[in-house]
Amino acid sequence: MDEKVKANMLHWDDMVEPHVRSEFYDVEGFKKGRNTLDKITLEGVGDVKGKTLLHLQCHFGLDTLSFARLGATVTGIDFSPKAIKYARALAAELGIPATFVRSDVYDLPGQLSGQFDIVFTSQGVLCWLPDLKRWAQVIAHFLKPGGFFFILESHPVAHIFDNDNPKDLIIRYSYFLTEPMRFEGETSYAVSHIETQNPVTYEWMHPFSEIVNSLVSAGLIVEHIREYPFIFDKRFSFLEKSQDGFWRLPDGREDVPLTFTLRAVKPL
Ligand SMILES: C[S@@+](CC[C@H](N)C(=O)[O-])C[C@H]1O[C@@H](n2cnc3c(N)ncnc32)[C@H](O)[C@@H]1O
Repeated sequence: MDEKVKANMLHWDDMVEPHVRSEFYDVEGFKKGRNTLDKITLEGVGDVKGKTLLHLQCHFGLDTLSFARLGATVTGIDFSPKAIKYARALAAELGIPATFVRSDVYDLPGQLSGQFDIVFTSQGVLCWLPDLKRWAQVIAHFLKPGGFFFILESHPVAHIFDNDNPKDLIIRYSYFLTEPMRFEGETSYAVSHIETQNPVTYEWMHPFSEIVNSLVSAGLIVEHIREYPFIFDKRFSFLEKSQDGFWRLPDGREDVPLTFTLRAVKPL
């Protein structure tokens, strides 16, 4: 495994326990029946009853298991051994049928067989992937002809701003950066502190054109792209949470895209 991807894996492994215990993920609420999927995802993916669904970068499985509760036959994959171990334990505890596979996204064709009606991924996934062309090929590989891919993700524009500026959106990073960015930290979007021996992570910028062109090059047909002026985590300290669970800019400001969705189909 690439050294940078390995550093990310070790870091993500250390995040699993704190995330499981966090208010952000509210595992107790999930155990009582809470569905973790937001309304945009539910509308964009549609009825999953009787469908097979592959969830890429599933973390410890709450969204995967939420799809299972809605009637899908689910498979979740993540490269973090602790995340997959916890996802399996949670599925067993709750009696929810689900398959969880520990794998790097890029290695998945060698680890898993079959094809799916739906390939799904969301909320903080693309920045960890060095190569979107290969990512899109993996998606196409696992989709049945006629099946579709759905992603809800932070908008590439949201990645150019300084997360540490307490007052406003100030541009800090190049939208067109191709080199990986190195970060060092012991916090996450869900918790204020993580005990970790692996604080270094690497992230990649992916302009919108790269995301779309990767999927098109892999043979998928884009059905829709939507852009939204709100986001699923408090990545800037001045964002305000709305009743729908999304975080918005203050004073009704809606001039910057912070989230996008994309749905694409594999031709018959
Ligand atoms: C921000 S989390 C996704 C959050 C998830 N949607 C949720 O709400 O629980 C990103 C996930 O990507 C996984 N990941 C990062 N790089 C990966 C890779 N190359 N292959 C597989 N999983 C990866 C991490 O382990 C982590 O669980």
